[in-house]
Amino acid sequence: MLTHDKEKSVQKMFTSIAGYYDLNNSLLSFGLHHQWKKKTLNLLAPSNEDRILDVGAGTADLSILAAGRVGKKGTVIATDLNEPMLVLGKKKIAARKLAQVSCMLANAECLPFPDQSFDAVLTGFCMRNVTDLNRALQEIHRVLKPGGKMACLDFSTPVFPPFRKFYDFYSFSLLPKIGAWVSKDKTGIYDYLPDSIRKFPNQDALRKQIEAIGFKDVSYQNLSGGIVAIHIGTRN
Ligand SMILES: C[S@@+](CC[C@H](N)C(=O)[O-])C[C@H]1O[C@@H](n2cnc3c(N)ncnc32)[C@H](O)[C@@H]1O
Repeated sequence: MLTHDKEKSVQKMFTSIAGYYDLNNSLLSFGLHHQWKKKTLNLLAPSNEDRILDVGAGTADLSILAAGRVGKKGTVIATDLNEPMLVLGKKKIAARKLAQVSCMLANAECLPFPDQSFDAVLTGFCMRNVTDLNRALQEIHRVLKPGGKMACLDFSTPVFPPFRKFYDFYSFSLLPKIGAWVSKDKTGIYDYLPDSIRKFPNQDALRKQIEAIGFKDVSYQNLSGGIVAIHIGTRN
């Protein structure tokens, strides 16, 4: 797939399923995504008054959790390339009266922020979807203040081989059918999902890629047997 084509087709898929995104997330992960997201905030451990960026915020779950950590004096900016996803995020933020969170359309590969302008950056299930992963990681590194932390939550590779077989069956055979049926999707996003997980670097490969960008103290934590992993790194 050509680079520009990937961005266009990914955006088409998220536009198609935006209204069903939260429901399908909960159904297909058996509700686990809430725990994964809370754990991501625990590992990022932002301080009160921090300025936090959420890259590929979608319907803003991570931004909402971050707002709870930074308090009223902090700032959270939820960014995404997809307007329908972000509009839903905005509604959730408004319903919770979270004045410290704002939303902005932005491409992860070209963030519209000055260098060293955030204390921490979060990204959940977005890095797998960008066209140029290195570019997006470089952008996160650029906008972080020295000493600032990044937390990247995404699907990864289950560590226990027999479980991997069951997981492959679930993600390649069941998940696309359930996901497409619930969201009435015709774009193939739930076929793309397991395929994109397969193509995404595994835990150690992603750790090395993040280190090569210039992050220090890079580590990861597997959740749910490695179905997902949270990578943490600190900007030099
Ligand atoms: C699977 S959703 C994740 C949403 C949210 N972070 C969560 O954890 O539920 C992936 C999001 O990444 C966004 N995305 C994909 N490529 C992007 C890019 N290049 N720049 C910004 N956002 C992007 C999509 O529009 C989509 O909203």
